Amino acid sequence: MKNIQISPSILSADFSQLGTEIKRLEEGGADMIHVDVMDGHFVPNLTIGPPVIKALRKHCSLKFDVHLMISPVHKYIEAYADAGADIITVHPEATDNLEVSINKIKDLKKKVGVSLNPETSIDLIKNFLNKIDLVLIMSVNPGFGGQKFMPEVLEKIKQLKKIREVEKLNFDIEIDGGINFDNCKIAIEAGANILVSGTTVFKGNDGDIKKNINLLKTK
Ligand code: DX5
Ligand code: ZN
Repeated sequence: MKNIQISPSILSADFSQLGTEIKRLEEGGADMIHVDVMDGHFVPNLTIGPPVIKALRKHCSLKFDVHLMISPVHKYIEAYADAGADIITVHPEATDNLEVSINKIKDLKKKVGVSLNPETSIDLIKNFLNKIDLVLIMSVNPGFGGQKFMPEVLEKIKQLKKIREVEKLNFDIEIDGGINFDNCKIAIEAGANILVSGTTVFKGNDGDIKKNINLLKTK
């Protein structure tokens, strides 16, 4: 049984104080920092890139769980590795050759994640599950925080958990989007062991980060 980890998304942080905000997450017991990178092309929003990640790197010892919602993605992977990403997660829809991108991330000695949008089938990545460290299941259409959780994606998590058991694999299952105190338990029961949360961690219980992280883990 994998430990449950919380990867708070800085998408909901105060962007004018990102260095302080990630320190608050570390002090609040976050297991890693989820960095939502958006390019205004793969998703209809634009956030941050390698220079900001590089600037944040020295303010926090936690792993940077970098979610690349950008396309094309392959030619930028090295820049995120150099900036300090520890986990680099790409969308199969955003690269010409998923296997080549996975190998590129591994060559850079980083953990490899593959993310599926709500409507994308796990069939797209079944042949790669023995090569990757993490599958990120989107429970919202990527682009914005604060959206409504899509419970239908839990079926994919159950399928992935079964495949992991049958094929004796060890990839983490991460869920991202609309995770709150009402659905975190069913996400974990379905098989997710890493929960991404932005709005609930930063805005829940008057912004009590430590309490919110604990509640997501133990609900
Ligand atoms: C969507 C982002 C968000 C974010 C979490 O592209 O990936 O899902 O991480 O946002 P909340 O927790 O506010 O839904
Ligand atoms: Zn994300």
